[in-house]
Amino acid sequence: MSGSLTPTALARLLGQWHHGNAPAYRELADVVRLLVLDGRIPLGTALPSERTLSATLAVSRTTVTAAYSSLREQGFLSSGQGTRGRTCLPRTAYAGEKGRDSGAGLSGAPGLAVPDGVIDLAYASLPASGEAVHQAFAAALTELPALLPGFGYDALGVPGLREAIAGHYSDAGVPTTAGQILVTSGAQHALNIVLRALVGKQDKVLVEQPTYPNALDAIRATGCRVVPVPLPPASERGWDLDATESALMQHRPRMAYTVPDFHNPTGRLMPDAQRRRLVRAAAVSGTVVVVDETLRELNLDGGTTAPLASFSPAVVSIGSLSKSHWAGMRTGWIRASESLIQRFAAVRTTMDLGGPVVEQLAAAHLVRSLADPLPARLSALRENRAALLELLKVHLPRWEAERPDGGLAVWCRLPYPGSTALTVIAPELGIRLAAGPRFGVGGVFENFLRIPFTLPPDQLETAVLALRAAQDRLEAAPQLRRTLRDSPVAAIA
Ligand SMILES: Cc1ncc(COP(=O)(O)O)c(C=O)c1O
Repeated sequence: MSGSLTPTALARLLGQWHHGNAPAYRELADVVRLLVLDGRIPLGTALPSERTLSATLAVSRTTVTAAYSSLREQGFLSSGQGTRGRTCLPRTAYAGEKGRDSGAGLSGAPGLAVPDGVIDLAYASLPASGEAVHQAFAAALTELPALLPGFGYDALGVPGLREAIAGHYSDAGVPTTAGQILVTSGAQHALNIVLRALVGKQDKVLVEQPTYPNALDAIRATGCRVVPVPLPPASERGWDLDATESALMQHRPRMAYTVPDFHNPTGRLMPDAQRRRLVRAAAVSGTVVVVDETLRELNLDGGTTAPLASFSPAVVSIGSLSKSHWAGMRTGWIRASESLIQRFAAVRTTMDLGGPVVEQLAAAHLVRSLADPLPARLSALRENRAALLELLKVHLPRWEAERPDGGLAVWCRLPYPGSTALTVIAPELGIRLAAGPRFGVGGVFENFLRIPFTLPPDQLETAVLALRAAQDRLEAAPQLRRTLRDSPVAAIA
């Protein structure tokens, strides 16, 4: 149970809530509900009594009573007998004014605590690739007995997996030994290890603007200073290497984090000439380039580029099976010089002592035949991408969608700065979104939204129609853009 809100504190949070576009009780309930969804009124908070709130807001008591009953009916306010109602979330998906979802609560999909019927566009991730993952685990179990006599700890990773990953880099034109590989629990874990080993509070870290939100959060968590370098507009494609070079020379950052292979969220692919310039400029400024290749296998248009590490032995590469196979593998890696890998391993043992063995044995099978499930995955993604771009053109013609070269999402420019407000309204319309500002530094990208095309076309159509409905609501009540400025804290991938 949390605290309580005084009428004055609630009035302050409500701001200009009454605009006369709907009955006063509806407007009041709407803004309270959005404040709860937004996290600005914590769950379990007791709202003021009807009498005191009506006096403070200078509205009739009937208005507050009706607003509170509407919130109760929608599942956002508990119905304590004789006590003040406390804020809560609906136990089933809230389906707007038209009626409550009678669905059976949370979906059974592991890792996705999303109410049934809600389409999750905050995650750009796919289900496991066909039978490959299952078969890899079956094979891993037959290999397990040979490892059971050992301790089961290995901060660097199971040797067979390290060899398989090294082989993958060598095949891609970057000669690599198993000693240059550290196995991690995914790319996010890998980035945290690299950050902890390389970056201190006084350092600067260069990032692309926009970039992958969880990486940004991890970089910020080091306490370092973040140096964002904007990507050029969609019409120019690529990266702005002039801006990158001058930021490197001016700030001399300790580290630069880049996603050149199907950049998240734009889906762009960095041309080889720009890769060359990037590593050259970083060598001059004394910056360690950390390349996140999590999305590298999701090459939708067949563009050919060399892995960034092929341009300089100083590059630190991060990879993962999360997008090529399944995020549930929780398996990723770092490729770097052998001496850096030893440093990373020492840092890793401050966080954990190694990855689970069966997962690593299974991952080794997947890495050895990395390309096998990709054709089917890529062809479905191409179809989804085409469907999403067409749906956006038809239903949201004023949104400018950038056609991605690869990856899993489309980065859209909105005709107004309402990304956060759309994100807050969205669950009510059956979708979950990641607000544009999550992808940038300094609250920018309020007029951008990332939309994954990981769902089949029929579900994408439902999602785009819901986006259209959310947009219509926002246009009917533009004040929501002002009241709903803070990005909800929610999981994104
Ligand atoms: C660019 C990028 N890096 C890292 C990750 C996280 O990867 P993992 O699941 O391996 O931690 C993602 C997931 O969406 C991503 O898009």
